[in-house]
Amino acid sequence: MKQTTVDDCRIIDLRKISDPRGNLTVIESNGDIPFDIKRVYYLYDVPGGESRGAHAHKQLQQLIVAASGSFTVTLDDGTKKRSFNLKRSYYGLLVVPGIWRDLDDFSSGSVLLCLASEHYDEKDYVRDYQEFLEYKK
Ligand code: TYD
Repeated sequence: MKQTTVDDCRIIDLRKISDPRGNLTVIESNGDIPFDIKRVYYLYDVPGGESRGAHAHKQLQQLIVAASGSFTVTLDDGTKKRSFNLKRSYYGLLVVPGIWRDLDDFSSGSVLLCLASEHYDEKDYVRDYQEFLEYKK
């Protein structure tokens, strides 16, 4: 977690099976993404102007997808920030451990889908930004 940077995070171009009846995107563990999926959760009904995130993880990696609508993910490694506006359901943002993330600019009706490499564990979170900066030094 200490050494990771925002440049270790990247957009993954997911498989898109185009069809006039509607498109389909597949995500398989250890094929399309570099980890086993242990947990899936989604954020929805986010009121306009609200922000989520504001934490880092020590071990957990995740893939964030705009399953519907759009939002902005700002990644921060304590030195450098990178922002991604996610709006296509065939792009996933891979976030490695040790990266602070802020989520905002949620469009109305947006759904943030998250595939996580670990089960939920509050001890894996760093929720204090100063503590995060100290850790990354
Ligand atoms: P949090 O991860 O802080 O949400 P976000 O980063 O999307 O803003 O989680 C919000 C609350 O939900 C917090 O009290 C922990 C709880 N939670 C679970 O119980 N299980 C989970 O898998 C997740 C992701 C959160």
